Amino acid sequence: MIPNDFNPPPDSLRWAKYSGRDVIPLWVADMDFPAPPEVVEALQQRVVGGLFGYGQPLPSLIEAVVEHCAHEYCWTIEPDWLVWLPGLVSGLHVACRSVGQSGDGVFTATPIYPPFLSAPVESQRRLLTLPLISDEAGWGWDFAAADAVMRVARLFLLCHPHNPVGRAWREDELWQLAALAEKYDLVVCSDEIHCDLTLNGAHRPFATLAPEIAARTITLMAPSKTFNIAGLGCAFAIIPDVRLRANFCAVMHGIVPHVNVLGLAACEAAYRHGSVWRKNLLDTLRGNAVRVEQAIDKLPGLSMERVEATFLAWIDCRELGIERPANFFEQAGVGFSDGADFGPGNAYVQYVRLNFGTPRALLDEALTRIASACASL
Ligand SMILES: Cc1ncc(COP(=O)(O)O)c(C=O)c1O
Repeated sequence: MIPNDFNPPPDSLRWAKYSGRDVIPLWVADMDFPAPPEVVEALQQRVVGGLFGYGQPLPSLIEAVVEHCAHEYCWTIEPDWLVWLPGLVSGLHVACRSVGQSGDGVFTATPIYPPFLSAPVESQRRLLTLPLISDEAGWGWDFAAADAVMRVARLFLLCHPHNPVGRAWREDELWQLAALAEKYDLVVCSDEIHCDLTLNGAHRPFATLAPEIAARTITLMAPSKTFNIAGLGCAFAIIPDVRLRANFCAVMHGIVPHVNVLGLAACEAAYRHGSVWRKNLLDTLRGNAVRVEQAIDKLPGLSMERVEATFLAWIDCRELGIERPANFFEQAGVGFSDGADFGPGNAYVQYVRLNFGTPRALLDEALTRIASACASL
């Protein structure tokens, strides 16, 4: 059974899906760890007084973001480059609509977080996908194939680190992608929402490769995944180029709402005071990642690559010989994200994504259920 000392909030999207059922929900990418106490305290302070009119980012928040970029990624950004957003998915849609014309190609590599597939189409763009390859070295790029597809694109949606395969792209890989973006004069929208969740080593923002790369890049970031505050809807784009930024803001105008005041307060507290909490979180996630890897390794029919970043594991179930593994495991009491949503057609229907941002006891129970389900075949 699900340990009963754990009380998820009743409005949790992830938990509500299986409410009243004995299914451990390891799908949507938020965690079961309470946000840093300093974040909770900042929210409490902001709630006192009861005034919740329209807000705007305080200079101290902007300073916190600038300092975070300098400290974590050695990236000197100008306050003017920041565009505030209620979420990264909005940012993906705005990027698609603000670059090129209707019918232009938008390139991305699969498997991929589903809005990368829907945002181009819903923005009247042509979706161009290329599968990442998986070999002894793990998940990676087929750069020759990427060259052929990027040739006809206008915008490249990069996921760095990559959800769902968990790769934190190395600098040499980023450089090869940047060279292709230069060769075909693409704008790059680099979704770096998981950038503070690299399990081993530092994050290198795509835009920091070189000033000319920064000039063609829209970077999307947020404190939401790292500090478990996604429900507060606070994110930002960093857009150094004035024309790209103006086009981006023009598309947002009148459609994308202001960031809510609680999200702004939480964002500042997270970046200013969350580093010790984050360090502990990363220790926990590293431990959980190893636990998942070791458990999956032991199960014939399942396999996965090492997770370098995120709290997500992308599990290959093709050898299990089951048509729809997500449904099979749901019946066995574990609710995964269905791989089918992460690529075109049926490309990833035999994969599942596991969210290991959960306490050890719950994760272990899920791993036991997965093992029993496999043994029952
Ligand atoms: C790569 C990536 N981008 C964006 C999001 C969602 O961003 P938001 O909730 O800010 O719209 C997620 C959530 O899992 C994600 O993994």
